[in-house]
Amino acid sequence: MKSAQIAILGGLAAATFGVTLALADAGPAPGANQVWDDPALRSAAEARGAQVYGEHCASCHGADLKGVAGAHAPDLTDDYWLLGGEDLDTFQIHPSDVETTVRFGVRSGHAKERELSSMPAWSAIAAKSDGLSGTDMDDVIEYVLHLSGQQADLTAALRGKHLFGGKATCFDCHASDAKGDSSIGAPDLTRPATWVYGSDRAAIRASVVEGRAAAMPAFADRLSDREIADVSIYVLARAGGRDF
Ligand code: HEC
Ligand code: HEC
Repeated sequence: MKSAQIAILGGLAAATFGVTLALADAGPAPGANQVWDDPALRSAAEARGAQVYGEHCASCHGADLKGVAGAHAPDLTDDYWLLGGEDLDTFQIHPSDVETTVRFGVRSGHAKERELSSMPAWSAIAAKSDGLSGTDMDDVIEYVLHLSGQQADLTAALRGKHLFGGKATCFDCHASDAKGDSSIGAPDLTRPATWVYGSDRAAIRASVVEGRAAAMPAFADRLSDREIADVSIYVLARAGGRDF
């Protein structure tokens, strides 16, 4: 056999072997949703997931999963999901939904990240003719304070309400009832406890004026499939408001 042929055969063998290895890796391991449904597998996954969480997630989401101040990462123990799942019948979040977030991140720049919207910077838009004036912004901020159950100037808030559902187009992303749209990552503006930037007047002003786009890195290249499944199960098991 000529050496070129040997090299090709060798290459083929390596390629085939590589594929076999890859298959064995992805192998018959059950997916996160299946693991979730099996009590023994699930508790083992949670134990491993706790460690992954501590190493890769706690810096932003906190050792108690309630979010670190300044990291703008959501509380993972409440019953509110800023990013919705794929189950449009029940709106329940499954382990596979958490896996998607962990694998591809949030506004991470990963090719497969979900298409979320971001909060526009209204100061930039104000420069355009159809933007909001300074008073418009004041009014819309009062309305958000009112919506979120806080003290507000009600006359200004009423003007803000019209802006919210009209010229300011807030309704476009946050919905007319202001309860948000989890398919694009737009928060519920009636539940300030779930917000990631703070809820006082100054924080709301900064959100409206400067815009917001919190990011979480994609873990696809940093964690194995099993680690991603484990940490997703660990996190979901600690979320509130789920019918377990
Ligand atoms: C660099 C900071 C950072 C790290 C590290 C990080 N996250 Fe996040 N995470 C965020 C931010 C920011 C968001 C989205 C906030 C937003 O959209 O406003 C988020 C969102 C999420 C969500 C969606 C929550 C919801 O309410 O829908 C989950 C689940 C999540 N992260 C889990 C994890 C897990 C598990 C890890 C570790 C593997 C992790 N995160 C690591 C910052 C981080
Ligand atoms: C193009 C879609 C879009 C429009 C229009 C929009 N928002 Fe947002 N808004 C978002 C998204 C997405 C976030 C979450 C950003 C993040 O988590 O980093 C957000 C975040 C916010 C927050 C911060 C909440 C928190 O977690 O702290 C406030 C307050 C807010 N928006 C108010 C408004 C108001 C008032 C208007 C109208 C003037 C408006 N938004 C228009 C998409 C939008």
